[in-house]
Amino acid sequence: MKIGFLGAGKMAQGILAAMPENDRKKVLLSCIEDNRNAEVARSCDLVFLAVRPQDVDSVATEVRPLLSVGQTIVSIVAGKTLAKLRTAFGPRVGLVRVMPNLALRAGAGMCAICPGPKASKEAVAAVERILGGAGATVRLREKDFDAVTALSGSGPAYFAYMEQAMAEGGVALGLKPAVARLLAEQTMYGTAKFLRESGMDLGAFIAGVCTKGGTTAAGMKFLSSPLFKKTVAKTLAAAAKRSRELA
Ligand SMILES: NC(=O)c1ccc[n+]([C@@H]2O[C@H](COP(=O)([O-])OP(=O)(O)OC[C@H]3O[C@@H](n4cnc5c(N)ncnc54)[C@H](OP(=O)(O)O)[C@@H]3O)[C@@H](O)[C@H]2O)c1
Repeated sequence: MKIGFLGAGKMAQGILAAMPENDRKKVLLSCIEDNRNAEVARSCDLVFLAVRPQDVDSVATEVRPLLSVGQTIVSIVAGKTLAKLRTAFGPRVGLVRVMPNLALRAGAGMCAICPGPKASKEAVAAVERILGGAGATVRLREKDFDAVTALSGSGPAYFAYMEQAMAEGGVALGLKPAVARLLAEQTMYGTAKFLRESGMDLGAFIAGVCTKGGTTAAGMKFLSSPLFKKTVAKTLAAAAKRSRELA
C-alpha cells in the first residue's frame, strides 16, 4: 500500500516518525515548497491530509481531478466533517477522519478514528496500524469528534498549562525553575503511567493519596473547589464550539 501526505508539517512528521523505517522510506511527502501534491494524489493508495483547515479547499481543488476509486483520504484536519471532505474531494475516494494530538510526536499520541463512506477494511486497518505505532487509537462515531477535539486534540496545551502552573508554584516556594519543571513534568508523566497501568478508579486514587491531616489533603482542599472543574468544563466547551465553527 503506497502512502502519501499532503502537508508535511508537525503532525505529518510525527506520524511519519512513528512508522517502521522500511515503510517510511516509501512514503511520498508533499509540502507547499516542493508541490508534489499531484504526484501524491495520482500515485498513493492512502493519502494523509495534514494541512491546516484553511488550506483544505485549495488543496482539494488541486488534487480532486487526479484522485480515483480505490484511494483513501485520511484527514487529520480539525473540524472538517466527512460530509465536507466528501464535497471537497468527491464521491469516488474513500474517507477516514482522524483526530490526533501532538503527543504522537513522542509516540504517545491519542487518535480517534472514524471510517467514512467507501473506506475499505484494508485502508482502515492500515490507518489503525500506522497511527497505533504513534500511540493509542480508538474508533468513534463522528458525532463525538467535537468532544474529542476539545479533550484529547487540544488537551496537550491544557496539561502543559497545568505543568506550568505547578512549576511556577514550585518556584514561588523557592525551587529553581528547571528543577520545578522536572518535578512537575515527571509527576504528571508518572501519574498518568501509573493510572494507565493500574486502571485504578480516579476517585479511589485521589482518596488514597489524600491521607487525613496530610500534605496532599491540605493542597487538595484548595484545588478541589467546584470552580476548578467548572473552569475545565468551560475550557472544553469553548474548544468544542470552535471545532463546530471550523466544520
Ligand atoms: N498540531 C496539533 O496539535 C493538531 C492536533 C490535532 C489535529 N491537528 C490538525 O492537523 C493538521 C496539521 O496540523 P500541523 O500542526 O501539522 O500544522 P503545520 O505544522 O502548520 O503543517 C501544515 C503544513 O501544510 C503545509 N501546506 C499548506 N498549504 C499546502 C499545500 N497547498 N500543499 C501542501 N502543503 C501545504 C504548510 O506549509 P506552510 O507552513 O509553508 O504553509 C505546513 O507545512 C491541521 O489541520 C490541524 O487541524 C493538529
